Amino acid sequence: MTRKLRSQAWFGGHDRDSFIHRSWMKNHGEPADSFDGRPVIGICNTFSELTPCNAHFRELAEKVKRGVLQAGGYPVEFPVMSLGETNLRPTAMLFRNLASMDVEESIRANPIDGVVLLAGCDKTTPALVMGAASCDLPTIVVSGGPMLNGRFQGKTLGSGTDVWRLSEEVRAGTLPLSEFLEAEAANSRSAGHCNTMGTASTMATMVEALGLTLPGNAALPGPDARRATLAQMSGRRIVEMVHEDLTPSKILTREAFENAVKVIGAVGGSTNAVVHLLAIAGRIETPFTLDDWDRLGRDLPCIVDLMPSGRFLMEDFCYAGGVPAVMKELGDRLNTGALTVTGRTVGENVRDAVCWNREVIRTLDNPLTPQGGLAVLRGNLAPQGAVIKPSAATPALTQHRGPALCFESIEDFHARVDDPDLPVTPDTVLVLKNCGPRGYPGMPEVGNMPIPKKLLAQGVRDMVRVSDARMSGTAYGAAVLHVAPEAALGGPLALVRDGDMIELDVAGRRLHLEVSDEELARRKAAWTAPEPAMKGGYQSLYVSHVLQADRGADLDFLVGRRGAAVPRESH
Ligand code: FES
Repeated sequence: MTRKLRSQAWFGGHDRDSFIHRSWMKNHGEPADSFDGRPVIGICNTFSELTPCNAHFRELAEKVKRGVLQAGGYPVEFPVMSLGETNLRPTAMLFRNLASMDVEESIRANPIDGVVLLAGCDKTTPALVMGAASCDLPTIVVSGGPMLNGRFQGKTLGSGTDVWRLSEEVRAGTLPLSEFLEAEAANSRSAGHCNTMGTASTMATMVEALGLTLPGNAALPGPDARRATLAQMSGRRIVEMVHEDLTPSKILTREAFENAVKVIGAVGGSTNAVVHLLAIAGRIETPFTLDDWDRLGRDLPCIVDLMPSGRFLMEDFCYAGGVPAVMKELGDRLNTGALTVTGRTVGENVRDAVCWNREVIRTLDNPLTPQGGLAVLRGNLAPQGAVIKPSAATPALTQHRGPALCFESIEDFHARVDDPDLPVTPDTVLVLKNCGPRGYPGMPEVGNMPIPKKLLAQGVRDMVRVSDARMSGTAYGAAVLHVAPEAALGGPLALVRDGDMIELDVAGRRLHLEVSDEELARRKAAWTAPEPAMKGGYQSLYVSHVLQADRGADLDFLVGRRGAAVPRESH
């Protein structure tokens, strides 16, 4: 050890202040040698019973601690704001940036030399990585792992994806309500996060592809003993990383972000990855833009057959070889020289990876869909961009022209969607406004609007939908999302009227509103901004500072790497 640890600024002296720092820590039984210059490892825990996907994190933290102790570190677990996707209203995304502030300030303000991030449910992963990236102390991520496969009436049940499908069947009258309610328990039968390639699995894949986890992190199920082993090994490794001064800025390079885009495309990952990866890049100050998403993923096939794009679930993905097998298959398409938390490169990490099931992880020559990446659309309806996941859309709808039917809010949509007189046909383009970062606020996952009942009765299961919202990573459909600028900012989306023709051309990356510039200017002059949902409090801070989706929907003053210099003394 040659470098002085920052924790020694708290624990290393013989004066009154170091007495205070050590003495109070000793109240939970710490022996004196805990403070002798060994790395202090913060275990940043998003455990909460209100975040069911992370409810097993106390046990996981214990495994990390064991690893830290084995390697000669001093583990200290601390809680941060937890974000449970299923319970938080108006949307967990509203609080991602708030949680990231908690993480950043908790790390910097405390005697911590390195940090293990325990993340699981959707927003917990980006929130933790964003906060840690702004500090840039050695960091390793341990994901909570997906739930085991759901089984119901002899069939596999996938988190989210089958909820949307079953609820549509109830609305269409083809599934009794009693059976729908019975499926609840079968849907979530073990510890862990959503078991589809939804947002949580995409985030776990993303951090593995970025090089922030030990190999194999993403797919191991939550209850699998090997998940606990990985947590323990991560505890050992973070101590070494502190000695090596292996910080996120050395790992989260441009090459790492390129790898993440490609791997997310290859696994058919969630559209939500777009905003989160952009936000992380902003924090670590690595140049990376929305257009990079499109360019890097354009020719990349989706080779993993997982819901919502395919058939299988994360447990199957694990047994097939997980992310390392996908990265091995991508080979030279990745930046194999990118450094990872192992201290080795991506290429070295996956050199011996094996695929055990070619139904789940296919080859590049035999992909699930030829285009796995996310398409970034532009046009007069989305001057700053919009995204669509082609692999989740009905192919025929990726080239479409149809009349708009507008909804001013999701409540307006719910009030009218099942009206038998709704002027809607399969060609209609459903337009949902005021669901962007500012407008909702928080950019909720409402962009995959349910199909109107009268069309469901005709057998329609997909149609073009356009909004400034996000969509659940477990959802599917021809949903154009993240339209920027959003409606609540007076973007062109706010100016669309019923009957306006909208053209979607995914191959041409175009989203066009067939209304003249002059007419749009007239409509803009008559437009007034909606009133904010709440005045004061965090929501006001958020609404005043949130960036648009093309900038990752971070708060403007949080962008950047502020480091972790030791703050001045408190006494
Ligand atoms: Fe937590 Fe899906 S609800 S991961």
